[in-house]
Amino acid sequence: MFAVMPQQWTPVLPLIDVGPEPQQLRVAGETLVVFRDAHDAPVVFLDRCPHRGAALSLGNRLEDGSLQCRYHGWCFDAEGRCLRVPFNDLNDRARAKIAATAIPCRELAGCLWIFTGTDAPAEPTLPDTLQGDPTRFGTYRQEWQAHWTRAVENFIDFTHPPYAHRDTIGMYSFDYAERGGTASVDVEEHPAGMIMTNYMGRRSYGFRADWYAPNMTRLHFGAGNELHVYSIPLSDAETRVMTVRQLPADADPRGWSDRAAAVDHQILDEDRLIVESQPGDIALAEDEISVATDAPTVQFRRWYRDNILSVAASA
Ligand code: FES
Ligand SMILES: [Fe+2]
Repeated sequence: MFAVMPQQWTPVLPLIDVGPEPQQLRVAGETLVVFRDAHDAPVVFLDRCPHRGAALSLGNRLEDGSLQCRYHGWCFDAEGRCLRVPFNDLNDRARAKIAATAIPCRELAGCLWIFTGTDAPAEPTLPDTLQGDPTRFGTYRQEWQAHWTRAVENFIDFTHPPYAHRDTIGMYSFDYAERGGTASVDVEEHPAGMIMTNYMGRRSYGFRADWYAPNMTRLHFGAGNELHVYSIPLSDAETRVMTVRQLPADADPRGWSDRAAAVDHQILDEDRLIVESQPGDIALAEDEISVATDAPTVQFRRWYRDNILSVAASA
């Protein structure tokens, strides 16, 4: 299950896009259905009815909050338990053996999060800047035709802006780079991932960014102005890139997300052009050459081999 990124917590959709009606969702190579129950809590199942495999996302959410399959009308509650099998008078024991496959989910930091497995061993790890009321965050998202590991590497790489973003955020460092300026990066281990401090030239001022396993980078543009970027695998060839920021006190999430889009889309389009041109999974990149400023991606590749590839291979 979830072979592209097994056994990890990840955000998947902005909360403002999760309503009561069943909708299909792809994550890490699996197809899921998400809806909200009678208490407005999100529910996620594999999008496969245990009866004959029909997509549950074609079904109806009933008034009691359960989901009814559109093929033969079997009904499932928020935990996936079968409540009813039309035309068949099953006793409780027989019915207890029937269940939709429930996927652990949470509402956190503006997003619906899921665990890419059925038994979550722990709660997701969020930085301090994503704590608090989950409705007070703004999001923006794009879909890239790329493997998620290439997207993660893009967001932990700080020598590409002068070239990939030459006309925008890289404008000021381009001349410095072309005149032979030097750069360096310090990588520090952190319980949730790593802290990267990037220096251009003198080591008096460093730009800090953090990587949280498996797929988040937090860029420190100043206190209260941190940008969180997630690279969410949809399949082995598609990635949802989602930015998350704390909302100003009186801002409305949807209007604010539209404004964030105007800022983020140009920069992310510049990244997307490059990342979509790269070959897929970094596991296939054994002949690629690394230099000192690639320390963060080298570290990520090690983590990926030990925590994703080895788990996918033993599943
Ligand atoms: S396939 Fe869902 S009820 Fe038959
Ligand atoms: Fe970039």
